[in-house]
Amino acid sequence: MSDGTGLRGEFLLDPDVTFLNHGSFGACPRAVFERYQEWQLELEREPVLFLARRMEGLLAEARAALGAYVGAEPDDLVFVPNATSGVNIAAWPLGLQPGDEVLSTDLEYGALDLTWEHVCGDFGARYVRTPVPLPIGEESEVVETIWAGVNDRTRVLYLSHHTSGTALTLPVAELCRRARERGIVTVIDGAHVPGQLPLNLRELDPDFYAGNCHKWLCAPKGAGFLYVRRELQRSVHPLVFSWGYEGDDPTFLARHEKQGTRDPSAYLTVPYAIEWQEARDWHLVRERCHELARRAAGEFGLTPVVPDTRHGLYGQMVALQLPGDAPMDLQERLFDEHRIEIPVMDRQSPRLIRASFQGYNDEADLERLRAALSVLL
Ligand SMILES: Cc1ncc(COP(=O)(O)O)c(C=O)c1O
Repeated sequence: MSDGTGLRGEFLLDPDVTFLNHGSFGACPRAVFERYQEWQLELEREPVLFLARRMEGLLAEARAALGAYVGAEPDDLVFVPNATSGVNIAAWPLGLQPGDEVLSTDLEYGALDLTWEHVCGDFGARYVRTPVPLPIGEESEVVETIWAGVNDRTRVLYLSHHTSGTALTLPVAELCRRARERGIVTVIDGAHVPGQLPLNLRELDPDFYAGNCHKWLCAPKGAGFLYVRRELQRSVHPLVFSWGYEGDDPTFLARHEKQGTRDPSAYLTVPYAIEWQEARDWHLVRERCHELARRAAGEFGLTPVVPDTRHGLYGQMVALQLPGDAPMDLQERLFDEHRIEIPVMDRQSPRLIRASFQGYNDEADLERLRAALSVLL
């Protein structure tokens, strides 16, 4: 396994920046990015051959590799540009009625809160955000806190598998199981999961699961996917209607794969991103990064949202509560004065600072953050 110093040279990141924000948009290794550009060059050499004749087969191969990686049948997955698109595609066809409720938490990604508020608003339904107290409790407490929000009007359970600003792994397996027993549809946002946490969709068994490959799997930007349980696929439509609707009984795959002229190169690079990580024993890289997150949680004198004992509830990121007198422009000052890229989350109170650790990070990055925070806080 390469250490952080060895792996850093394999990424395209600016060497002058201490990059502790893999969580926002990921970062792509040079070799993976070059494979992406090779696909683009191949497309441009003969666009008709590539897009009209080869694309369907190439996408099927890419879906096969992704399906093997996430534990799903390849034909139950479609590529989408990002998890946001996946959740939007899932949200519209649910057939919500006036008075129905979509149950969620107050830890969700803000843009997708907006999606649900909009969808629920259009159908006269209600988006219910159950508060999850922080620092987070035991897994079983979290399950009960969220499940307590279920009532006779609950039609949909929408949860992040791994949350955005708070960087917590929610116990979605148990909640999906309970929801299925009760006939509640599950929509899971796995934007941060592929590449960071093990994922087996057959075991998890959600109705919808939207994931990103461009975050922790380090694929090029614009590579996400949506899994849809087979029985529901007939009623699920892409956000763009196009040639995929030709004929009497257009398939789920055709409807989603034909949406006007698009560059599929990011999708086609996903198998190589998987191979690239596997060739570098990525499970060990993840463990090393988790250890850096654990140290940030324990050693900075800031209260983490996840107590140190709850190992299963966080991965390569950790969110720490900022003191009330922390500068309002802390994120800008960390960047301008210390060249550290790290997000400060304003949606929670107290505010949070979220440190991400990816293969290119090492102990020296942890120390730079520690030194900068001791100056600025
Ligand atoms: C939990 C969660 N869901 C969804 C997203 C959106 O990801 P994307 O912009 O790739 O759709 C993010 C982005 O950070 C996220 O943290």
